Amino acid sequence: MTEAEKEEKLKAVKDEVLGLAASPLYAERIKNGVFPVIGEGDHSARIMLIGEAPGKNEAATGRPFCGASGRILDELLGSAGIDRKSVYITNIVKDRPPMNRDPLPNEIAIYAPFLDRQIEIIQPEIIATLGRFSMDYIMRRLGLEQELDSISRIHGKVFSAELAYGRVRVVPLYHPAVAVYDRSKIDDLKKDFESLKSL
Ligand code: URA
Repeated sequence: MTEAEKEEKLKAVKDEVLGLAASPLYAERIKNGVFPVIGEGDHSARIMLIGEAPGKNEAATGRPFCGASGRILDELLGSAGIDRKSVYITNIVKDRPPMNRDPLPNEIAIYAPFLDRQIEIIQPEIIATLGRFSMDYIMRRLGLEQELDSISRIHGKVFSAELAYGRVRVVPLYHPAVAVYDRSKIDDLKKDFESLKSL
């Protein structure tokens, strides 16, 4: 796929999410005058990071991981020597759930096809999921349901799957927000990001 084709396909994803009135989170977005978060980064990134859903800062700006969790993510990427601009960062759910509650199954179901399309367009070699919602979705989607376990057991492990465009490695990671609330978790997170770097 050429860069121009990628741009066009990613723009179609963006336009469809912008007009996604069928989403239960759409009315809230319009009422609050905020934005969906589509994704950001290199459109040919080798690494795609997939979070959960936008928080307050992300919905206000339309950019992923730009609040407290984003500062932790930047620290983790920095400690592993990975340039934020060289990866692609997105979420499964593109609109902010009210009060930052967990995304509901019907919300994941309505936004996940957009994530699937982003993966097919960007064709990352490595998908790092941030938190249990994206871990759960991606591992099932890529036929790794047999390997699914609690995030405390499988964080930092590397799984392999085949997609239409080729082989992809999946690395489940803790959500950076865990270190916002419990700073002692930062070392576990740093170790996992190191394993990402070593791939
Ligand atoms: N948490 C997420 O999962 N995604 C963001 O973009 C920000 C916070």
